[in-house]
Amino acid sequence: MRKLSICAALFSLALCGVLNAEEAMSMNAADKAMYAEMSENNPAAMDVAEGEELFNSLIGQEAYAKVLGVSVKELPEMIAGFPRMLTATPKYDFTFPKTMRKVVTLSQSLQMALASRDKKVFKLKDKEMNKMTAYVKSLANDLKTNIDVKANKQMEEMVVLGQKIFEERRGGRGLSCNSCHSADIVGSRLRMQELPDLGSKATASASTWHAYRMTQSAMVSFDKRMQQCMKNALLAELPLGSKEMVALEVYVTNLGKGNTIQIPGLKR
Ligand code: HEC
Repeated sequence: MRKLSICAALFSLALCGVLNAEEAMSMNAADKAMYAEMSENNPAAMDVAEGEELFNSLIGQEAYAKVLGVSVKELPEMIAGFPRMLTATPKYDFTFPKTMRKVVTLSQSLQMALASRDKKVFKLKDKEMNKMTAYVKSLANDLKTNIDVKANKQMEEMVVLGQKIFEERRGGRGLSCNSCHSADIVGSRLRMQELPDLGSKATASASTWHAYRMTQSAMVSFDKRMQQCMKNALLAELPLGSKEMVALEVYVTNLGKGNTIQIPGLKR
């Protein structure tokens, strides 16, 4: 009897060990259940809906299309191609702030639209901006990202700069983005998390952010997500909206060019 219970104890310990190892390898069962539940009912859908209200009351599709120099019908295709260079369009006789004649992110294009309507220009980190950009990007849902890094000299420069930043070793541990996201290392694991291939269809990185991050219980933008990687890897965080950050977004978006836009995404 005694022998048996010891055996049972040993057995369950051993089993326990196996289970823990299995569990530790990826999302555990509870996480998986939560993921399934949340993909049915993404909590960030609320944020996107709030973004829609904000956008419609402050800008509206017509005014936004004018800022971009396209028709309302052309908006989704246009949105699917950010970051992109925006130029003044004489057709609409719009006066752009000179400093904005450069490669901009979708959020920055909304800042331009707000300025053109004499509205308060939210900061990139503001939650209003986060929600509005998510909504506007969702107008391109089901389209493929169509960033064009050859479109002009500015885009060509930005993709080169972005690649340089992606590969540059920085910070206390001398890591670069490429240390964890290069082709020869993706799929292996770091502290139990699979290293994602940012360009793959499976990760669909640029095209699935803004996403609800379960680990943060909040909707996070793509540039913010990249900042979070910088923080984890002890790289100095590039400021949102800086030339370097936009360049990085150009480069990483181009890695996943052609992936289908699905906003809001759902991520660990
Ligand atoms: C120390 C390793 C490491 C470094 C360095 C690193 N990352 Fe990551 N990154 C990860 C891991 C691990 C994940 C997935 C985490 C998870 O599952 O939540 C990830 C996720 C991401 C994602 C989200 C992918 C998705 O699901 O769409 C992006 C974007 C990203 N990283 C960009 C970057 C950029 C840009 C840099 C450089 C500034 C960088 N990472 C540096 C390890 C790293």
